[in-house]
Amino acid sequence: MDKLLIEGGRRLSGEVAISGAKNAALPILCASLLSAEPLQLRNVPRLRDVATMLRLLEQMGVQVRREGDCEVVLDSRNLDTPIAPYDMVKTMRASILVLGPLLARHGEARVSLPGGCAIGARPVEQHIRGLQAMGAEIQVEHGYIHARIADGRRRLQGSRIVTDMVTVTGTENLMMAAVLADGETTIENAAREPEVVDLADCLVSMGARISGAGSDRIRIHGVERLHGASHSVMADRIETGTYLCAAAATGGNIRLTRTSASHLDAVVDKLLDAGCEIVAEREAIRLAAPRRLKAVSVRTSPYPAFPTDMQAQFMAVNCVAEGSAVMRETIFENRFMHAVELIRLGADIRIDASNAMVTGVERLQGATVMATDLRASASLVIAGLVAEGETLIDRIYHLDRGYERIEEKLEQLGAVVRRIR
Ligand code: EPU
Repeated sequence: MDKLLIEGGRRLSGEVAISGAKNAALPILCASLLSAEPLQLRNVPRLRDVATMLRLLEQMGVQVRREGDCEVVLDSRNLDTPIAPYDMVKTMRASILVLGPLLARHGEARVSLPGGCAIGARPVEQHIRGLQAMGAEIQVEHGYIHARIADGRRRLQGSRIVTDMVTVTGTENLMMAAVLADGETTIENAAREPEVVDLADCLVSMGARISGAGSDRIRIHGVERLHGASHSVMADRIETGTYLCAAAATGGNIRLTRTSASHLDAVVDKLLDAGCEIVAEREAIRLAAPRRLKAVSVRTSPYPAFPTDMQAQFMAVNCVAEGSAVMRETIFENRFMHAVELIRLGADIRIDASNAMVTGVERLQGATVMATDLRASASLVIAGLVAEGETLIDRIYHLDRGYERIEEKLEQLGAVVRRIR
């Protein structure tokens, strides 16, 4: 299993380009299931999760053609196996995103129920309830969701759906199901995340009729069929935020290109409060950090508030800041796994249910730590970059799920990082 060896204590400086967003690319790849014509996608990041999704789609009969580094063409003309088996879903929960499009285009789907994961139970009953409201017959048996359009009907039926909580992939699944439904669907309490908007933009370029994406009420007027299209995936706001935090924690000075600050207001505000200088350019963002930051409290919430996917990285920043801060996690019930590993590096963190009290220390010390999930791994990388001596991070396959060429990008910013195979 690959490990990452980091020699800490260097300020990050220089320029690096941000990749396409994992959490936009995954649903957009699934959107290819909705049309019999090719979907050409640009700025698709080379990540393990993307490779897993492409394999899953291929297994269903989708033809996948990689063109160059970041371009993929998907052709679902011969889609014949509307099944997402347990083996694939267990390695990537986002596989649930095939459910809505398969049902809408193929009339049936068999998708393994995702289990819990390292950050929480993560049930999918909102996806199921919404599809049922659109006329799907759904049975959950032997660990699989069996869904089909009710007898005698060719299409799902437009419906008004109010989700119990804000769910990102739930909103995306229901939106994809609704684009081919008969009549109008309204999703109330919809997720407002920019990745939902990017998916809606792609669907609209395929001929879907959607309004309100980016607000909490999305209206979809179903159409008979979608056509081929070409779409460029948005920049990854979480990768952007992660490099900003890494530069901030090391007292660095960096410029990130092919991205923007426009989807990162909450994170930028916290970094400004911590004492960083940030300049937003049209397609780039600069950050300069003082030698020592101030600790800043954070509470995670759905977009546009502070993202849960940045909580672990910001905790690493607070670990070496001056003063104390409370980090409150409100989205997932078990998303502090990184804290115990950060403590092994010398951090002062006390966990009380969904609150973590972090008191900044002058310095962390390198040690061997273990990555437990994607964003937890990113926080350990940041801590390793500031720690004295060497930090060895085990199980970095988690990092490869969501950060493209992370060691190369960090080296470009002056870090000393080595992958050990
Ligand atoms: N929830 C339910 N029932 C449902 C759906 C969600 O109880 O039917 C709960 C979840 O358990 C959680 C909350 O609602 O407590 C929000 O979960 P959500 O459904 O929004 O999460 P998700 O769609 O499964 C996506 C991202 C995650 C990100 C969350 C929150 C993708 C592929 N994944 O997950 O990304 O943390 O939204 O913003 O888009 C990551 O990239 O590291 C990652 C975990």
